[in-house]
Amino acid sequence: MKDVVILAIESSCDETSMALVKNGKDVISLVVNTQMFTHAEFGGVVPEIASRMHTESILYVLDETLKKANMKMEDVDAIAVSALPGLMGSLLVGIEFAKTLAYVYKKPLIAVNHLIGHIYANNIESKLEFPELALVVSGGHTELLIMHDDYKFEKLGGTLDDAIGEAYDKVARVLGLKYPGGPAIEKLAKEGEHTYNLAKPMDDRTYNFSYSGLKSNVINIVHNEAQRGNEIRKADLARSFQDVAIDELLRKVKLAIEQTGIKRVIVAGGVSANQYLKEEMEKLVNSYGGVVHIPRLVYCTDNAAMIGAAAYPKFIKQEFADFSLNAKSSFDFKNVN
Ligand code: KG4
Ligand code: ZN
Repeated sequence: MKDVVILAIESSCDETSMALVKNGKDVISLVVNTQMFTHAEFGGVVPEIASRMHTESILYVLDETLKKANMKMEDVDAIAVSALPGLMGSLLVGIEFAKTLAYVYKKPLIAVNHLIGHIYANNIESKLEFPELALVVSGGHTELLIMHDDYKFEKLGGTLDDAIGEAYDKVARVLGLKYPGGPAIEKLAKEGEHTYNLAKPMDDRTYNFSYSGLKSNVINIVHNEAQRGNEIRKADLARSFQDVAIDELLRKVKLAIEQTGIKRVIVAGGVSANQYLKEEMEKLVNSYGGVVHIPRLVYCTDNAAMIGAAAYPKFIKQEFADFSLNAKSSFDFKNVN
């Protein structure tokens, strides 16, 4: 079969990213323009600023992506874009841009789910072999799924309140660390000991998660100690929080391995950048003789290469979007298939 080159566009949050991906696996070029340093000034992503910054940079990102690959729009077989979930204004910038390119250059348009993109990031450097368990851990989502085949998901459970990444970001903020909180907590936790006794989030045998109690537990400790004039051992608190937060993921994956017998585990989404999670997940899954997929760092956090990887099965099935494609801010795996 002829090679398929997809131009993929990602603008769902605070990264403007484009990639040229061949046959869903070979990343010919990838450009990620992050707005992180701007949003850090505000302690989190400001949606209005994010969409404006996507508008400012999107054409430069395209130019750079094509230049890096030494390719032209004419060499591209399809345009893929993150269409959901994410920040409405941010998604719309990418979608309108993708539609315009598809119209002008007469290329098919492929709508990609950002979270499914995170999952397919694992198909770039390793190969998914179904069935797999998939743990999606990002700023807005914490989900445990069975992936039976390309685009065939069965949701086992998800968070009942906050996502794990959100808990990392909020705990980081109360500890006075810079946005994004995940990497900051992970770094600080390395210097600390698990000395704070934090409540286990969901001490049950369901596949659901809950992170708001753990988050509030940390916030209350910080406030109470401040009121008493006591100093907080920030590194110890970061370590205690991380241990409990990650342990919860491990416990649910262990349960899923035992109950489903599936020993191949995909970890996807921004929190998969966490080294402690990677090490502990590998220990757990290896103890069952299984395999863990976690992408290389650049493919863990938001990037367009993963969108190109997830677009490929849709290209093969000729599942194209039309020009009425619109953005959607939310998504639940319960509703796919
Ligand atoms: O997937 P992502 O880049 O954006 C969304 O789609 O949400 O995930 C961002 C989330 C943030 O909450 C960030 O704090 C978290 O991923 N994150 C981490 C780490 N790196 C990013 N959490 C824990 N440890 C990390 N090293
Ligand atoms: Zn993401």
